[in-house]
Amino acid sequence: MTSPEATQSSRLFILYFNVVREVVSSYCREVRQLGFRLLGLISISLGLEEDYMATVLGEQEQHMAVNYYPKCPAPELTYGLQAHTDPNALTLLLQDPDVAGLQVRKDGKWIAVNPQPNAFVVNIGDQLQVSAYTSAAASLWSYAIIKSCLPEKLMKHGRHGLRRRMQALSNGRYRSVWHRAVVNADKERISVASFLCPCNGAVISPPEKLVADGSPAMYRSYTYDEYYKKFWSRNLDDEHCLQLFRS
Ligand code: OGA
Ligand code: NI
Repeated sequence: MTSPEATQSSRLFILYFNVVREVVSSYCREVRQLGFRLLGLISISLGLEEDYMATVLGEQEQHMAVNYYPKCPAPELTYGLQAHTDPNALTLLLQDPDVAGLQVRKDGKWIAVNPQPNAFVVNIGDQLQVSAYTSAAASLWSYAIIKSCLPEKLMKHGRHGLRRRMQALSNGRYRSVWHRAVVNADKERISVASFLCPCNGAVISPPEKLVADGSPAMYRSYTYDEYYKKFWSRNLDDEHCLQLFRS
């Protein structure tokens, strides 16, 4: 037997759970579609067929991390998330609209990426770097802020809502930058990262078209599974994992 109060609170829980499930599922679907559109545009920008990246990356898994960074009385002594590159293809990061914390490394300096209303931070993951050549435009796309088309519902629930580098597949033309999250003394922070990850068996190697003009392949071929295992066998802030796959 349960008391009427207990029955009432179980009903409320189920109601709440159903709403959260609906919002999270639609968020995941929308973010995936946006990621695929970006992969198409990135392929075109490299002079490849629009579906090139999507085909090479195979049936992509989608991971989501809801990062919670509590207040910290001595923020200068620690990090929310230590410096790293994302090992996957593309990451779409939804930042807390009111609290800054993300930083990227550029020309040896850490730069704050402050939250923009209704925008995602798009992070090129290691796998997109493998596929090009080094050029002045190397970091062109590393951090692009894309105006999002998030459902209004999600923006409202953003704070309570939910939480890798695409360098290899561009033979270095796109760069997966180092980034980290710092903490604040007086404010907690939440971010929601959606990672588009190549299927485990996907073979990552520079597209023939990008090496045909005499630009040497920067990285050897490998499977995503091999890369992923190597990535997590090291410390996050060790040297760039792609260095271990140089040709
Ligand atoms: C990540 C990440 C940054 C942030 O989850 O991989 O880089 O601002 N998060 O939370
Ligand atoms: Ni990251």
